[in-house]
Amino acid sequence: MNTSVQGDFHSETHPERIIIFDTTLRDGEQSPGATLNVEEKLTIARQLARLGVDVIEAGFPFASPGDFEAVNKIAQQVGTEDGPTICGLARATRQDIEAAAKALAPAAKPRIHTFIATSDIHLEYKLKKTRQDVLEIAPEMVAYAKSFVTDVEFSPEDAGRSDSEFLYEVLERAIDAGATTINIPDTVGYTTPAEFGAIIKGIKENVRNIDRAIISVHGHNDLGLAVANFLEAVKNGARQLECTINGIGERAGNAALEELVMALHTRRQYFNPFLGRSPESEDPLTRIDTRQIYKTSRLVSNLTGMLVQPNKAIVGANAFAHESGIHQDGVLKHKLTYEIMDAQSIGLTDNQIVLGKHSGRNAFRTRLKELGHELADQELNRAFLRFKELADKKKEITDWDLEAIVNDEAQQVPELFKLEHVQVSCGDHSRPTATVTIRTPDGKDLTDAAIGTGPVDSVYKAINRVVEIPNQLIEFSVQSVTAGIDAIGEVTIRLKHDDRIFSGHGANTDIIVASAQAYINALNRLYASLQQGKVLHPQHDEAQPVG
Ligand code: KIV
Ligand code: ZN
Repeated sequence: MNTSVQGDFHSETHPERIIIFDTTLRDGEQSPGATLNVEEKLTIARQLARLGVDVIEAGFPFASPGDFEAVNKIAQQVGTEDGPTICGLARATRQDIEAAAKALAPAAKPRIHTFIATSDIHLEYKLKKTRQDVLEIAPEMVAYAKSFVTDVEFSPEDAGRSDSEFLYEVLERAIDAGATTINIPDTVGYTTPAEFGAIIKGIKENVRNIDRAIISVHGHNDLGLAVANFLEAVKNGARQLECTINGIGERAGNAALEELVMALHTRRQYFNPFLGRSPESEDPLTRIDTRQIYKTSRLVSNLTGMLVQPNKAIVGANAFAHESGIHQDGVLKHKLTYEIMDAQSIGLTDNQIVLGKHSGRNAFRTRLKELGHELADQELNRAFLRFKELADKKKEITDWDLEAIVNDEAQQVPELFKLEHVQVSCGDHSRPTATVTIRTPDGKDLTDAAIGTGPVDSVYKAINRVVEIPNQLIEFSVQSVTAGIDAIGEVTIRLKHDDRIFSGHGANTDIIVASAQAYINALNRLYASLQQGKVLHPQHDEAQPVG
């Protein structure tokens, strides 16, 4: 076991705890269909701050005016003195770095994260540059970023497939130019844990000035190894982990924040010595408030439309359910027989009945506050109306119902099209027929009707007749928030238009209404994006010339 790390480095560059760098709003949002608008990004950023992440990568400011505005507002409203560091991504070009610096200006602790690929395959086919070019561009652009902020992170993209000697040289130059964090991305999720650990060890041993920078890791989950790779990296000296809530991200996603944090938390006796601590130390290995994990997971899932699979570690619906008789018996005798973590440690409360039809605004506000939701007056009014409607249909309102209302209200999609009315007639001897009334963006109420193969199909066809934006429905899912016949149903859909994916979410005790709302919600995202124009992808779109 490597216990020799203690005392080898300065405390800022080799802290005795792990820095959690959340990239849900940048790399996570790059997953198809996960697009968020400015207000939704702010809502998530505020929750990430409550969760206790050290760094929020808020976006790629050069991508579009919307991305710039989101990073700028997060820098202003969340990046306070006692809040997290706010980071903006920039390719190794002057215009990207300038956009990042400008967007981040209001943050108390701004960080520019600049990157350029180092693998031969990326150099030859994507950048059409030589190794010598990269050896010059990397330090030049790190120094340029450093002229705006003191905190500069540098990533050699596709480090996992880069030649190690070349990688050491690029990193050495980036650190000499002022990078204070060097981030090692396994961009295509190719490495295995032992290999990734060896890459980190090699960097520690061969990069001459590595004691002047924190080693960070970033990885994708193409082979399902991202979290395992990161844990091996920690054992070999990595002190910053770049991750996303629910593991969302490009293709198979990024390393999942909740899995990393709970692995480090649950197995801290195992990891302590690698950070120079005694195995028995009870000091947390991260600054994360683990009781905020479940709530953050639900918020991100609802706003991005990226569903969490039931068997997903930590935050899946089955993660703390003990279905089998043997397990239930064991858990009843002693929890530790089959449980290595306490459900409450991730903020999963007992789903107790808390409010009813007669509960007033104050009781509603107080319970929301206890659950960690402080709503502004207008938001509270809207949520309270939803609560009253629900209480008329459902006698007992639980915490999970309240969370569903708040999460649904957290969606800030402009209501360009608004569902005014939906009615369906169906049954085993009739043809499913739907009538809808929709308010259009220019304020007209249009009504139309359609016949479909089922009630949802007929509603969607009727909506299409009004909205007239061609699209293909590619995913439709219904989940109930609580048990019971009167439960709230949450509908999540994904649709495709011109090779782009848009998601929508709706919650109602009537699943036909929830389905109609989810569809209108997705169409509104699509319509808004048609008005917004092109958004640049930091890794796939043509690199701008260094200027
Ligand atoms: O996966 C990757 O390489 C990235 C970089 C931009 C850090 O996301
Ligand atoms: Zn990535």
